Amino acid sequence: MIDELISKMTLEQKAAQMIQVPVAMVGMEKAKEWARKGVGSFLHVLGDDARELQRIAVEQSELKIPVVFGIDAIHGHCLNRNATIFPSQLAMASSWDRDLVRRVGHATAAEVATDGLHWTFSPVLCLGRDARWGRINETFGEDKYLAGELGASIIKGYQGDDLSADDSVLACAKHFIAYGEATGARDAYDTEVTYRKIKDEFLPPFKKAVEAGCATFMTAYGSVDGTPFTIDRKTLHNILREELKFDGFLITDWDNVNALIRRQRVCDNIGDASALAAKAGNDMIMCSTEFYEGIIEQVRSGKIEEKYLDEAVRHILTIKLRMGLFEKPDKKGVPGSIGCEAHRKTSLEAARKSITVLKNDGILPVNKKNIRRIAVIGPNADDIRAQYGDWTYFTHPVPGRFTEPQRPYVTLLEGIKESLKDSDIEVAYAYGCSVNGRGYYKGDYPDTGAFMEQVYQDNSHDNDGSKEMPYINEAAEIAKKADLIILALGDNYNQAGEYNDRADLNLSGMQEALVRILSTMKIPIITVLISSKPLAIPQIVNWSDAVVCAFNGGMYGGQAASEAIFGDFNPQGRLPISFPVMTGQVPVYYNQFPGWHEGRYVDCPKEPLFAFGEGLSYTWYEYSNLKFDKETKTVSVDVSNKGSVKGVETVQVYIDDVVSSVMTAVKNLAGFDKVELEPGQTKTVSIKLEDDSFSVVLPDETRVIEPGEFVIMAGHSSKDEDLIKLSVEL
Ligand code: NOJ
Repeated sequence: MIDELISKMTLEQKAAQMIQVPVAMVGMEKAKEWARKGVGSFLHVLGDDARELQRIAVEQSELKIPVVFGIDAIHGHCLNRNATIFPSQLAMASSWDRDLVRRVGHATAAEVATDGLHWTFSPVLCLGRDARWGRINETFGEDKYLAGELGASIIKGYQGDDLSADDSVLACAKHFIAYGEATGARDAYDTEVTYRKIKDEFLPPFKKAVEAGCATFMTAYGSVDGTPFTIDRKTLHNILREELKFDGFLITDWDNVNALIRRQRVCDNIGDASALAAKAGNDMIMCSTEFYEGIIEQVRSGKIEEKYLDEAVRHILTIKLRMGLFEKPDKKGVPGSIGCEAHRKTSLEAARKSITVLKNDGILPVNKKNIRRIAVIGPNADDIRAQYGDWTYFTHPVPGRFTEPQRPYVTLLEGIKESLKDSDIEVAYAYGCSVNGRGYYKGDYPDTGAFMEQVYQDNSHDNDGSKEMPYINEAAEIAKKADLIILALGDNYNQAGEYNDRADLNLSGMQEALVRILSTMKIPIITVLISSKPLAIPQIVNWSDAVVCAFNGGMYGGQAASEAIFGDFNPQGRLPISFPVMTGQVPVYYNQFPGWHEGRYVDCPKEPLFAFGEGLSYTWYEYSNLKFDKETKTVSVDVSNKGSVKGVETVQVYIDDVVSSVMTAVKNLAGFDKVELEPGQTKTVSIKLEDDSFSVVLPDETRVIEPGEFVIMAGHSSKDEDLIKLSVEL
């Protein structure tokens, strides 16, 4: 059928099929023209507008090929304000829970499909190694194995077993490849990588995405040794298609083809840019609609053979066929699923499992009997926009839709009040200071235009502390009368996401000053970090009796943090990313090479503030009896709950390849599993390791296992003191 269809297509129809039009940018009237022309895809359009465009495509275009609709449903179908908002990908990664992440993907798919859409541009499989990067919140953290495991899980959740099912949407593994490696963590900047490094460090999660059946991939903005990925056939074709055997379709990122001219300056006209992008192996072109004229002109003038277009169209139509689009152009979805009770329950579960306790001097869980008055203080205690983070209807408003927060959601302040509703404990609240250092601002959620204006203003850096003093004073007043302070600090939606990289990872505005003042009162402080990323907060950690990391916890992030504080559940989160002591220490990811001078600065400790895999529980665990079966490459270890409450431990296995012909990291995560243990209980946990975990990529870019000594480590975190070790010869 596909061959027959392609044989009927004119050059114009093939070019149109390769284009994805941004409806929010061009408007509905232009979009309708594209639908009549036989465009391949639209993005950023929802509900009835999407259905109308589909109707036009299947009724009024010549070949009646249905359109595939894409959307950034990054942590839930968050551009729809009625949808379930899940914790950010980074927050969810703290759960280290494959099944949970799969269920989040499945719930998101049902909601996206119910809005008439077919495709989410998720997951991000770039590694989050430099916390200055604005898009850290979109990653599964700094480790390739964890990112690959959770990435494969969410892809299976989005797509299910059958792309034509009503509750299945296409996943998109992005950004291919090494987008997270932009120099200085400046978003979409140049990348300093080599092919060997790409294959060794950045390809593994994408390989797992292909193995999980991911139907689409997205090309990154960056470059390899001076060649933009958009025109690099070696990555897009040789590696992706020939080595990984990817059989879906590949879309560029936003305006990549025009960027070849305007930003990356490797050509000076749209014809050349279009031909280069098509020859490299991009099947669909996002936003650069000039590609249409450009590629037609290039084929007509003999500069590119039409077979490249045939190949691209074949990839696109094959997926459309597998989706059953030709019979059912409108996804039915699961009526009633948008924001439904069952999905909200999953969101709450995800928020709870994401909560990571980083410090506890014994104050957690808080014993309500010892407390009469709690002061809840801080800019993020009652700001749902900070709690949600990036990629929601606040940060990416779809024209004509609202930015006013939609209930239900629970902020930390609301969660604490709920947790204490049956007690005599009084709760007093003060805003304390703003995140941006620009004085108190509580948005009244204006229309989208005014809202974006406010975002730009908030992004300016005039840090005028004097405006904050009345709020700091107010906070100090209520703190004085309390016997416990719960602080909610962090960042805001305008410090996260594209364009929003940070040069400084300290708490912004007057937040640190606020804590300094409160810390002089000698009242216990519990700090809850509601942020898009790790921040450099050694002082805050010193001044706090406990630190709880919630990242962007989604609609129930506040409830989950409060429940953890009062011991309604035993937290099980483990960091998917390291926290730096100070900004200059980044990148501080755990799996670096040993280095000659211990990798330390004279003015900063070598170790991160908190390491990958770290996270406290209200119990503690002991590891013993580590074994390794060479035949099956299976690690087994006994894990005991030594405390007096039930807990869930994340058993982490690392490998050190002691001598190899290329340099390797001091250790690499090779496996993990979660185990629930009653007080006093011991279980043997067995984890089968993959061959790839023992391998290295040689200078000729082949992956091999080199015989010799490997140290197998198992334990509670990536820190040496948390691991027991076993040396084996392979
Ligand atoms: C650009 C971003 O880099 C990408 O992740 C996103 O999916 C597209 N814009 C579409 O919004």
